[in-house]
Amino acid sequence: MSGNRKRVAILISGRGSNMSALIEAARDPGYPAEIVGVLSNRAAAPGLAVAAAEGIATASLAQSQFPSRDMFEDVMTQILESWDVDLVCLAGFMRILGEDFVNRWAGRMINIHPSLLPLYRGLHTHERALADGATVSGCTVHFVTPGLDEGAPILQAQVPVLPDDTPDTLAARILVEEHRIYPEALRMLALGELTATRQ
Ligand code: GAR
Repeated sequence: MSGNRKRVAILISGRGSNMSALIEAARDPGYPAEIVGVLSNRAAAPGLAVAAAEGIATASLAQSQFPSRDMFEDVMTQILESWDVDLVCLAGFMRILGEDFVNRWAGRMINIHPSLLPLYRGLHTHERALADGATVSGCTVHFVTPGLDEGAPILQAQVPVLPDDTPDTLAARILVEEHRIYPEALRMLALGELTATRQ
């Protein structure tokens, strides 16, 4: 497998625990993808140091340094191309990406979102699930399309919402499942098993 593993970049903004789950999965030489670079829009993202310590190429660039989002994303594209990337995984990347960038990676860029999409697109998913009295929540890996959190789902996992949950306890229970399904979804994408559900 190691000769034709897909080359994957991970985009992060913070802690990077999903990034770490993907790096861990890719340690197995039989896993069909290798993590070749981690790009952050925040230089202070703790995940960058974790990736660097793994010997993975890293880069950071802030959108505020660029006159427009298009120019910011053009430089992101240049970095991804310099890493010869096949696939892109968003892992807690907290920037909305423009249509040109998204379309460039159509069918090759996936995201993990902490809700059972199409429920609770966007931010504050756990607060909203609790406010609604939801008894079940979870996470979704999905293709990235121009509409926020609207792309076709690849995998989902459910967890119960418990009566005394806070947003933090619910987030922690869901995060365990995120770390399980994200490597599995990337495996399926890298093996080309997802073409039928491409959007
Ligand atoms: C994860 O829970 C991820 O699902 C969420 O941010 C967290 C990042 O944690 N993503 C979103 O809310 C995207 N809209 P991590 O940096 O430890 O992977």
